[in-house]
Amino acid sequence: MTDGQGMLELMSIRQSERRYIDKPVEKEKIERIAEAGRLSPSACNGQPWRFIVVDEPALRLDVAAATESKVLNMNSFVRQAPVLIVIVREKSNFSSRAGDKLKSRDYSLIDIGIATASMAYQATAEGLGTCIIGWFDEKKIKEILGIPKSKKVELVLSVGYTENTLRKKTRKPSSEIVSHNRY
Ligand SMILES: Cc1cc2nc3c(=O)[nH]c(=O)nc-3n(C[C@H](O)[C@H](O)[C@H](O)COP(=O)(O)O)c2cc1C
Repeated sequence: MTDGQGMLELMSIRQSERRYIDKPVEKEKIERIAEAGRLSPSACNGQPWRFIVVDEPALRLDVAAATESKVLNMNSFVRQAPVLIVIVREKSNFSSRAGDKLKSRDYSLIDIGIATASMAYQATAEGLGTCIIGWFDEKKIKEILGIPKSKKVELVLSVGYTENTLRKKTRKPSSEIVSHNRY
């Protein structure tokens, strides 16, 4: 990765995968994905997260069902994924929370996004497909997994092998989103 291309290559092949094949994911791969989350940066190093790896079939299907909306035709693919990682937002440390107040920010939510992205890219590096899921019934997931009421479930990451081909990325052109020295 010394030529500066490695990360961009990884980013160009990560895409939201919404079809998974029936192939189990190796435990070591899941451990390394969770490790990528653990190593992520966070405001004041608050690490306001807990990653729940859900791979028990019955439990996993219950969580998948809690992400699905039949009316909006959303997330029915989640049930195919052999592993779901539920990302829970924990209370951050004192400094980060003080920063939130002083700067009117929500640093821990930013931290959660970074950790989730790190895990998604590690999964890509492992040859796995993922989809970040932000649409779900939080109350149901909390009940299913015994997550205390005081915590927040922020995202679910579906993980599995896929045979999908790469789609062309739909992104704004850099001329629209990158500027130099001024807005
Ligand atoms: C915070 C967040 C929430 C998302 N929630 C969902 C979701 O509930 N269901 C889904 O199918 N995709 C979801 N996505 C995936 C986005 O639709 C996808 O990343 C975006 O369209 C860009 O496509 P790509 O990931 O294939 O590059 C979510 C992505 C993010 C970052």
